[in-house]
This record gives sequence, structure tokens and C-alpha cells, in this order.
Amino acid sequence: MSDFSSSIDRDLPRFRAELCEFLRIPSISTDPERAGAIRDGATWVSDHMRQAGIPETEVIETEGHPIVLGERMVDDDAPTVLLYGHYDVQPSEPDDLWTAPPFEPTERDGRLYARGAVDDKGQVHMHLKALETRLSAGVDVPVNLKLVIEGEEEIGSRNLGQFLSENSERLACDAVLISDTGMFAPDLPCITTGLRGIVYTEINVYGPSSDLHSGSFGGAVVNPANALASILAGLKDEDGRATIPGYYDSVRAITDRERADLERLPMDEEILRQTVGSSELGGEKGFSPLERLWYRPTLDVNGLLSGFTGEGSKTVLPSKAMAKVSMRLVPDQQASQVVEAFEARVKELAPPGVRVEIRRFHGGEPWVADTEHPIFEAASEALETAFGTPPAFIREGGSIPIVQSFEDTFAAPALLVGFALPGCNAHAPDEWLDLSVYRRGIEALAHLYGGIGDKLKG
Ligand code: BES
Ligand code: ZN
Repeated sequence: MSDFSSSIDRDLPRFRAELCEFLRIPSISTDPERAGAIRDGATWVSDHMRQAGIPETEVIETEGHPIVLGERMVDDDAPTVLLYGHYDVQPSEPDDLWTAPPFEPTERDGRLYARGAVDDKGQVHMHLKALETRLSAGVDVPVNLKLVIEGEEEIGSRNLGQFLSENSERLACDAVLISDTGMFAPDLPCITTGLRGIVYTEINVYGPSSDLHSGSFGGAVVNPANALASILAGLKDEDGRATIPGYYDSVRAITDRERADLERLPMDEEILRQTVGSSELGGEKGFSPLERLWYRPTLDVNGLLSGFTGEGSKTVLPSKAMAKVSMRLVPDQQASQVVEAFEARVKELAPPGVRVEIRRFHGGEPWVADTEHPIFEAASEALETAFGTPPAFIREGGSIPIVQSFEDTFAAPALLVGFALPGCNAHAPDEWLDLSVYRRGIEALAHLYGGIGDKLKG
């Protein structure tokens, strides 16, 4: 077996400098003012695919942000691996909570801090460097490669699903490889075998035709802020369960084997409590924290807005109120059914005298892996070679909405090998990538691009 260790060590300073260049591009997908940066992000990826040894690359326009496609064919009869990742990032705000500016990558204590450092630019970059490491050393990549790096993951992959189905022949593959998840603990490499789905909505409650003096009118009108509060309170019961009829009917029960697997993980509730910085952990009664995070669906308010929220006081009854509410879904819930049942329940909970409008934003289906597939063995071997310990199989509470669509479109399994560490601040101020994980991850992936071919050939 080839040893990529010394060449990676030699090239690492250059790899890091390149990654910093990528991280300087503020490719925030949700912000229309960043359209130029999104385009720069796409071009950067396409240029660096070529540098890594991918001969064909293309920046493909969509109705939203561009998709970068790369192709390297070795043989029509060889198996095909599709790499998926994203070059878009979440907004950086509140910027004043960052130690250094979010788009000026800085290294401190073995970590690289920047928006996108780990989610997902850093992890995409690890793949490009793993491919470059093999190809520049003349070590074969024995599979046909298709690379699909999109710019809309953080806004629900709006245009990717259609792109995949319209190009299903061109992108046909035997496995989909993704690094956009994390490790359970430092030094414990991980393969993610399940993701939650998501439904994201906005509830708007309208009352009087304009704001009113709270003395002149308070007591005689329906206050939309109070109405929204009672709707939100009514959506959950005292055991932390959603009160939407049928919500739990299709939730797959955790098996004894899965529960035993969870118990083997180095889980410490106190550390979790300290990580989130609350006096107590919350959630659905009757389940452990990991079950709540990975095997149970949620219903959470993500944002609230109504009335006077400035400094001091203003005696006013608001004319409207708004809440952003998300539900994280688990197998076998379906986003389309959940959103219908949610809307019906909200309308049922609304008191007379207000008008309720619900907007639907992105949605995505939950996903769970078939871990019997031989590519899981290839990943375990590659991770063990680089990290010196075999990987744990974990799930994630987060969502990558397109994963289920990949499996459905190509009838090919997805393999999720991720390198974010706990506490890495993805989506938050001071997001960081651990540079020793970056280094070992590149090595693991360089091995994986060989091993996966052997397993797929059977
Ligand atoms: N990299 C994450 C997915 C993830 C989240 C993995 C948490 C591991 C732990 C991904 O980029 C992401 O944030 N997805 C969004 C999807 C949403 C915007 C549709 C998410 O989960 O919030
Ligand atoms: Zn993300």
C-alpha cells in the first residue's frame, strides 16, 4: 500500500495557504448581495479541481447559484464514485462575536478559524488535496470520478435535485461520497449512518389592522403576539412531544442493536450540558440525549418577532407576530406529510380573531444508511490507516437535504465520512477546523480513493 504521509507533510503549508484563499471568499448563499462572491467561490472550486488533476470541469448555471461539475473518466467499465460537497456558507453574523473577522482566516492553537473552515469548504478541500496527492505521485485513482460541488446547500439545495434528475445519465454512479459531517470525539474517526430531515416554516399571525394604544384598546382586542404565543405553547406538551396528530406514527423505533451501539460511544451528558452552556439539558421525556438528537424528531422555534423590541418601553398592541419554526425529521417521516399536518394543527390552535398565514421554506427527507454495503469497509480501512483507530458509526442530528435524493436518483449508496470536531462552531461565530484532523483526513481520503474502487469492483 502506498504511504502518502511524507508527501502530505511536505505539501501541507501550501495546502493550508490555498484553503485560506478559499475561505477568504464570502460565499454566503442566503444573501443576495453576495452573488459576486458566490460566483468567485464556484470559479475557485473549478480552477482547483483542475489543479488537483480533474481534467474536465464546468461551472453550470442554475436558477440560483452555480453548480461546479468535475469529471475524470478512467474506463467505461470501472466503477464510478461521485463526490458531493458545498462551497456556500451560512451568514457570519453576529460579526462582533468573532475573535478575528470571519472571512480573514487565522490560525490559533492548531485550529484554522473562518466561516466555512469546516462546513464545508475545509472538507471539500481535503478531497481535492487527497486526489492531488494520489495523482501527482502517479498513484492511480481506479474509479471514474464525478465531482458535484454546489452553492445552495445552506439554503436547502433548491436547484440541485432537478439538476440530478435531468443529468441522471451523465452523473450515473455506484457510490456517493460526502464529507460534510463530524467526528464524535477528537481522535475518533467516524462514519455517519443517519441524518435527520427538515421542514422549515414561518408562522405569521395578523390581528388588528394597525398597531394600537395598549391602554385604549388592551383587553378588548385579540393580540396577535399573545395568539402566537399560545399557538407555539400548544404545539408541544409537557413531556416535550409535538402535539401534531400522527407526528410520531411513522417514526421508526430504535432497535436493541442501535441502542447497544449508542451505549458504546464515549458520551458524557455533563460535557454536552457544558458545551451548550445551559443549566439543564431538555427534550422529549423517556429518551437519552443521543436518542433525542439522532432518533427522535423535534419541533423548535428558531426565531420570534412582534411588537416593540427596542430599548425601554412602548405601550402598544402589535398588529402582527411572526415565528420561524423548524422540525427535524427521522426515518420514516416524510417532509410533505409533516408540513401538511403541522399547518392543520397551527390553524386549529389559532384563536378566533386572528388570521394565520404559514410560509414553507426548505425541506429535506431524513436518511439512513445500509451499512452492509462494502464501501463502508473501504472507509473503515482508510480511516484506520490514517487515524490509527477504527471508526465509530454515528448519526447526526443535522440535515443534508440532498442525500436521500442522491440515493433515489442513482440507486447508489451514500458514504458520509466527516471531519468536524465537537464544538467546532459550525453556523456560529469562531467556526474552526482542527489542522491535525485536516492533515489526517487528507491522508485517509487519499487511501479511500484507492480502496473504494477495489470494494466496488467486488
Ligand atoms: N454540514 C451541515 C450538516 C450537519 C449539521 C452535519 C450538523 C453534522 C452536524 C450542513 O451544511 C447543514 O448545515 N445543513 C443544514 C441544512 C438546512 C439549511 C436545510 C442544517 O442542517 O441546518
Ligand atoms: Zn451547514
